[in-house]
Amino acid sequence: MGNKRWTASLIVLFVLFMYVLIRFAANTNNIENAVESLKTTQKAKGKTAHFILIAQELDNPYWRSIEQGARKAAHTYNVQVEYIAPLQTSVEEQMKLFEKAIVSKVDGIVVQSLDEQMFAPIINKAVNENIPVVTIDTDSPKSERVAYVGTDNYTAGEKLGEVVAEMTRGEGEIGVMIGSETSTSQRLRFNGFLSVIQKHPQMKVVEVMSSNISQIQAVLQGESMLKKHPDMSIMVGMSALDAIGILNATTNMRRNNVQIFGFDDVEETLQAISNGYIQATIVQKPFDMGFQSIKILRQHLQGKAMKVEHFTPTEVITKNNVHLEETN
Ligand code: BGC
Repeated sequence: MGNKRWTASLIVLFVLFMYVLIRFAANTNNIENAVESLKTTQKAKGKTAHFILIAQELDNPYWRSIEQGARKAAHTYNVQVEYIAPLQTSVEEQMKLFEKAIVSKVDGIVVQSLDEQMFAPIINKAVNENIPVVTIDTDSPKSERVAYVGTDNYTAGEKLGEVVAEMTRGEGEIGVMIGSETSTSQRLRFNGFLSVIQKHPQMKVVEVMSSNISQIQAVLQGESMLKKHPDMSIMVGMSALDAIGILNATTNMRRNNVQIFGFDDVEETLQAISNGYIQATIVQKPFDMGFQSIKILRQHLQGKAMKVEHFTPTEVITKNNVHLEETN
């Protein structure tokens, strides 16, 4: 008898437990559905979309141009853009900012994918949580990003190689300064550059070092390259502050027989081109990248279909056309 009563009590308890569990699951489901429909209604009602742009380095002039483009788009399309970045380049910091952006449930994220291995999973996480991501400047082709906006970096590297070969008559030992060892865009640029240089038997890349996109590092690394290679006659920089860092290094080391080439149009680089200290630079379009990234996110929220790769053009600036660029 005692046993039967126990069994009956256990059955009652089990049934009660199952009932509570089912109600709980149903409630959770209801809440999730409610949140989802709230989000959709808010979007449908035309709430001002809030986008986050995560840059590589807060005060880098190249990224400030991207910011300006994004702000122009924000004004044009009546959306909000928040510009955030580490004070100094750091993949880990960028990842933390990305996590925060996901947690704060923004309507879209624009980010540079500095390291494909690390960024692809977090981009996918955002996309799975219904936050579209546009990669800018450096792509993450293996991720589920909505689009990439930026330079076709392999082609830009080839362009740099062609200018270098032409302006040095295809002869000389070359030192290369790349912005970062892990960045896909820098690797593509370097590979494009190398593919052209290798066609010239009298040219050879004798050293590759990284500036970590810092001008000071570019000076220090440039000096050590110059010490190591007394016959080096060509130096190229692959990120925005490298050419100017290299120029400082050659000045400090009194090596005025080195031809310098670079990337981007920061003011000091243009000035040095017009004074004849830097031979040429490959100019990207950071302002347009910023503008387009926001435009694309907005179009995506409106449900418009779009292509994935949006390449912005590059142009070669030398002493012959530097003033044109400055007045543009
Ligand atoms: C590169 C960016 C980089 C910037 C740094 C540019 O040339 O495209 O990836 O952040 O230089 O100065």
